[in-house]
Amino acid sequence: MRPDGIEDLDGSAAEHDEDGSPSLTSAEQAPPERPAEAALRPRGLAEFVGQQVVRDQLSLVLDAATARGRSPEHVLLSGPPGLGKTTLAMIIAAELGAPLRITSGPAIQHAGDLAAILSSLDEGEVLFIDEIHRLARPAEEMLYIAMEDFRVDVVVGKGVGATSIPLDLPPFTAVGATTRAGLLPAPLRDRFGFIGHLDFYAPEELREVVRRSAARLEIEVDEEAAVEISTRSRGTPRIANRLLRRVRDWALVRGSGKLDLAAAREALRVYEVDARGLDRLDRAVLAALCGRFAGGPVGLSTLAVAVGEEIETVETMIEPYLVREGFLLRTPRGRAAAPAAWTHLGLEAPEGPEGTAPMLGRF
Ligand SMILES: Nc1ncnc2c1ncn2[C@@H]1O[C@H](COP(=O)(O)OP(=O)(O)OP(=O)(O)O)[C@@H](O)[C@H]1O
Ligand SMILES: [Mg+2]
Repeated sequence: MRPDGIEDLDGSAAEHDEDGSPSLTSAEQAPPERPAEAALRPRGLAEFVGQQVVRDQLSLVLDAATARGRSPEHVLLSGPPGLGKTTLAMIIAAELGAPLRITSGPAIQHAGDLAAILSSLDEGEVLFIDEIHRLARPAEEMLYIAMEDFRVDVVVGKGVGATSIPLDLPPFTAVGATTRAGLLPAPLRDRFGFIGHLDFYAPEELREVVRRSAARLEIEVDEEAAVEISTRSRGTPRIANRLLRRVRDWALVRGSGKLDLAAAREALRVYEVDARGLDRLDRAVLAALCGRFAGGPVGLSTLAVAVGEEIETVETMIEPYLVREGFLLRTPRGRAAAPAAWTHLGLEAPEGPEGTAPMLGRF
């Protein structure tokens, strides 16, 4: 069990450095930082920063259910890692004053595992299924029925003598979380009465996350330092909290103890997180693209070899942010550097015929 009461949900094969982070700027959670994260989790909707739309809608769903004295409809939370899905699931249970049962797609190997969980649910309980897109098909089908009819068919015996005994379940609320909503089969998605999609946070929202976390950690962060940390956090509260902890460490050990702009800049320089939130590996990818491959396009596998990384790492951990920030282009012929990549590296983008990088003219 995790220190915050969550089972081990981590299925990622990410490389971890010595302190456990996949990398300082990865949005994925590293197992050793779980206690630190648990301590910083907002406990109620009012404390949850940003995501105004989802927060308002969810608050309505919960208030209406409470007013009717019923369990709310099932809730699906989707969005990239580190944006607050698990936090919201816990908040839902807390706001309802309901017990919370936590499991995850990968933890349910067989339909029987799910049957055991479902048949032991108490009335009104919130069942949180993390990484719900990774549920095995038989378990998924059992879940449809449980969510819709509050019934589970328990199979007794084996082979020809097996019989299935329907078991009524008390009303409960399923809360599913997924980083890959697209992988969820439509019949399962349709069983959720409310679907909340979490998006990356605006800089001022992240600043609020930093301020709030600093207050929780009983450290003083001046406004400029909060701005600096939040602008390097890739729109992700998990990264903002992680950078804040590193800046605090630096200030304590190397600095004057004060979390000011100078401390933030110096700490993030030591950890090689640049002004746009790129780390060493992100920059290595851009440098290879702009340098060795003259802007591309170049195949993903060639690019991965050039920076000495697995294809998977480049594709899932490095590229998405570079694409989102407009540094890298995914094209049918391979990966290409956008003009912003040259600028960011302090290089002169080669002029193409229309004043663009040459590779852009080729599509
Ligand atoms: N809106 C928010 N306000 C304040 N802190 C937040 C918010 N959202 C997330 N956090 C912080 O970020 C950390 C990560 O959030 P959480 O674990 O809920 O992300 P997640 O979406 O479940 O990620 P994953 O997909 O990896 O499971 C938490 O420790 C929490 O403190
Ligand atoms: Mg989570």
